[in-house]
Amino acid sequence: MAREGRMYIKFVTGCLFYMLLFTVYFLYMILGDDDSVVTIDESEFAVSINDHQRDFSTTIQKLHQREKQNSVDNLIHSRWNVLDLGSVQVAGRWRQKRGFLTIGIPSVKRARGAEYLLQTIRYIISRTTLKEKESIVLLVFLANFDTDYNAAVLKNISARYGDYMNSGFLLVMQVPEKYYPPLTNLKRNYNDPPNQVAWRSKQNVDYAFMFFYGRNISEYYIQIEDDVMPAFGFVKDIRAFILKNYKNPWVCLEFSLLGFIGKLFKSGVLDKLARYLILFYDEQPCDWLINYFLSSVTQTRHIYNRKSLFQHKGIWSSSSEKSKQGPFKAYDIYFREGKLNNE
Ligand SMILES: *[C@@H]1O[C@H](CO)[C@@H](O)[C@H](O)[C@H]1NC(C)=O
Ligand SMILES: *[C@@H]1O[C@H](CO)[C@@H](O)[C@H](O)[C@H]1NC(C)=O
Repeated sequence: MAREGRMYIKFVTGCLFYMLLFTVYFLYMILGDDDSVVTIDESEFAVSINDHQRDFSTTIQKLHQREKQNSVDNLIHSRWNVLDLGSVQVAGRWRQKRGFLTIGIPSVKRARGAEYLLQTIRYIISRTTLKEKESIVLLVFLANFDTDYNAAVLKNISARYGDYMNSGFLLVMQVPEKYYPPLTNLKRNYNDPPNQVAWRSKQNVDYAFMFFYGRNISEYYIQIEDDVMPAFGFVKDIRAFILKNYKNPWVCLEFSLLGFIGKLFKSGVLDKLARYLILFYDEQPCDWLINYFLSSVTQTRHIYNRKSLFQHKGIWSSSSEKSKQGPFKAYDIYFREGKLNNE
């Protein structure tokens, strides 16, 4: 009896101990959370917009330089603080009026890369009507740490498309390397080689910056790549598919089968998506993260448009691993170029 009693006391004490431990941990999680909450500084956003206009009126060729007054440098390596509009430098004029669609094009240096990019911009320009251009913003992200190279590409873009930058149709952005989280000595999930881990991790951060910066330009945001050709009348088709899905709750509609081409989001979700990618940037490629994101926001299936609206043109991958294997062409068999006369 006495022995059972002792065991009983031992058992109860054990339970109490673990309950206490759990409570302390729980309180720690709740109270400690305050520090990691990311705050969106709306005044920062407003300042950025005004700065772009001022900057543009002086010169479009000079990349917009802006440093935050209070030092962010000591925060940079905390991934919670990576996203900051102050770190995005933009050339072009920000439109006051919120349009229909932002087309995001991330572009990295590679064999014939700048050439592909200019061609893609040309396609977008020639395959949208004047009226459509008034409610579309093309957001090009020169995602290279080599700022001299970015400046050279920007010079070429503005030499050709200065009028479009002036009208607010074309924005070109870059983000200095110091604003990125660490890209070396990362975990090697899937036993990927370190340079592949660095490449896919950087891509996640690139996209996060694009989504974050592009989150409030238009009603919708679609991401393509810098080496694709859009179908004639693609904007009309996008509108039609959005209308067709108006009854379903959706977060992402897809207009291509390849990689991250042609994924359309409601702008309202971009902020969350950007933070999601930053949170797991070094874990998995963005194609996989996006699937987890979609199921997290309860979209459990892909919603594809019957026809792909973007065809892949480039044959040099921006992944150094893949480009080592030589030129490679990925085609989307559901792409239909369409006809010119449907405007
Ligand atoms: C800019 O354009 C010139 C002339 O077409 C070309 O030679 C040069 O390679 C381009 N530079 C970049 C960085 O795209
Ligand atoms: C988005 O822009 C509109 C004006 O176009 C503004 O009223 C709104 O506050 C902005 N929202 C965010 C989250 O920046």
